[in-house]
Amino acid sequence: MLLYTLWVLFHLLDFYTVSAASCDCSSLVIPVHVDVLVPKDPTDEFAGLKSNASSLRRVNDTYDIFGVFCRPDAVAPGESVVQLLVHGFTYTSQYWSPPVEEFRNYSYAAFSCERGLPSFAVDWIGVGLSTRPKNSSDVQYPTAAVAVSQVALHLKTASIVPGVPAFKKVIGIGHSAGSGLLNFNAIVDGPRSIFDGLILTGSLTPLPGTLPPLSVATPARDDTPLRWGNLDPGYITASNRSLFYPADTTAFSPRMIEFDGFTKDVGTIAIFVQTASTTLTAQYTGPVVKIVGSEDQVLCAADRCVNVTALTTSERVGWPAAQSFEVVVEQGNGHDMNLDFAAQGPFNTFVGFVNQFSGL
Ligand SMILES: *[C@@H]1O[C@H](CO)[C@@H](O)[C@H](O)[C@H]1NC(C)=O
Ligand SMILES: *[C@@H]1O[C@H](CO)[C@@H](O)[C@H](O)[C@H]1NC(C)=O
Ligand SMILES: *[C@@H]1O[C@H](CO)[C@@H](O)[C@H](O)[C@H]1NC(C)=O
Ligand SMILES: *[C@@H]1O[C@H](CO)[C@@H](O)[C@H](O)[C@H]1NC(C)=O
Ligand SMILES: *[C@@H]1O[C@H](CO)[C@@H](O)[C@H](O)[C@H]1NC(C)=O
Ligand SMILES: *[C@@H]1O[C@H](CO)[C@@H](O)[C@H](O)[C@H]1NC(C)=O
Repeated sequence: MLLYTLWVLFHLLDFYTVSAASCDCSSLVIPVHVDVLVPKDPTDEFAGLKSNASSLRRVNDTYDIFGVFCRPDAVAPGESVVQLLVHGFTYTSQYWSPPVEEFRNYSYAAFSCERGLPSFAVDWIGVGLSTRPKNSSDVQYPTAAVAVSQVALHLKTASIVPGVPAFKKVIGIGHSAGSGLLNFNAIVDGPRSIFDGLILTGSLTPLPGTLPPLSVATPARDDTPLRWGNLDPGYITASNRSLFYPADTTAFSPRMIEFDGFTKDVGTIAIFVQTASTTLTAQYTGPVVKIVGSEDQVLCAADRCVNVTALTTSERVGWPAAQSFEVVVEQGNGHDMNLDFAAQGPFNTFVGFVNQFSGL
């Protein structure tokens, strides 16, 4: 109970912490309608994209998507770009703004806000304060990804808070499986994509046999019965967070990894295995950048990120129609590049690309 109470408290502190910066943040909920086909078998790693009709089923539902919207106190007139921030597996929108005093300067929402850029950081369906479907097999790449693009559509067509008109451009910024969801939308929507640019952090094309085995995850109900005892076993979490950080433990605060364990959330088996679907080609026509940490223990093993030219050549294959495509390797950062001592490096890189992609 104590853990749960503190967790709720962290969620409330979120808004307090961020609003102390020169920005105005508010939490809100956007209802989205999702009508998609998902594989009947949630362990289908291609998320139904390679399936025939008889192995698919329809999910037609409405979900509440929770998010934190931050905007600079003074938005320059004529600038109408918003960043849609999508967290990774077992994280929440708090990844973009760790809600404790000590880690206030690790908030990308605050960092970008101070540089004139509004953002909306969402919780996936099934996660954090968004709707959690009773049946974990409803939380698959197609449902979670469409919920994200529906939020983007909302940002472009409606006023998100009173006094803020609909945005003209939405730049999607993902982390890890959150980048995977944006990538999945780019595969499904191609040139019709709602996104004006994609910044995919902590995400590379999975090489066969290099995805971490499902055994690194635990059913959430076994991991933390007090919080998740009622969830079906398809809801999973990662008990040990050390892979998300550099192997060199002096590169991050020991209290950050403690905080991480304390505020972790759930994902599903489907989302875990369906990352493989992002090996398919995206006919997306906007600009794309992939940003990884050189010390990423999940993605950059076997010196994969040492030769950036070679890495760019191999990653570009999946994006033949992109207006531009780049790979940036941030030196010294781990998989959770936002949570290392060196987070300022990636933060500056993200802001640079948002400005470039939106023509600011
Ligand atoms: C559809 O796909 C399933 C699973 O791959 C397969 O068993 C089945 O034979 C396929 N059905 C048709 C009509 O192709
Ligand atoms: C899908 O959901 C919408 C909204 O809830 C509903 O109006 C519609 O009838 C549903 N479609 C089908 C085929 O069930
Ligand atoms: C979840 O939904 C799937 C597909 O409708 C169904 O096969 C499965 O039995 C459901 N699981 C539970 C625990 O209700
Ligand atoms: C997590 O895993 C790492 C590396 O495998 C190990 O060194 C560490 O002791 C583990 N931490 C916990 C709390 O089990
Ligand atoms: C990096 O890879 C490219 C091939 O993509 C190769 O031509 C180049 O020599 C490599 N650079 C180094 C320093 O190994
Ligand atoms: C936050 O501040 C600490 C302590 O001054 C520093 O070590 C760390 O690099 C900073 N992190 C970011 C993201 O600015």
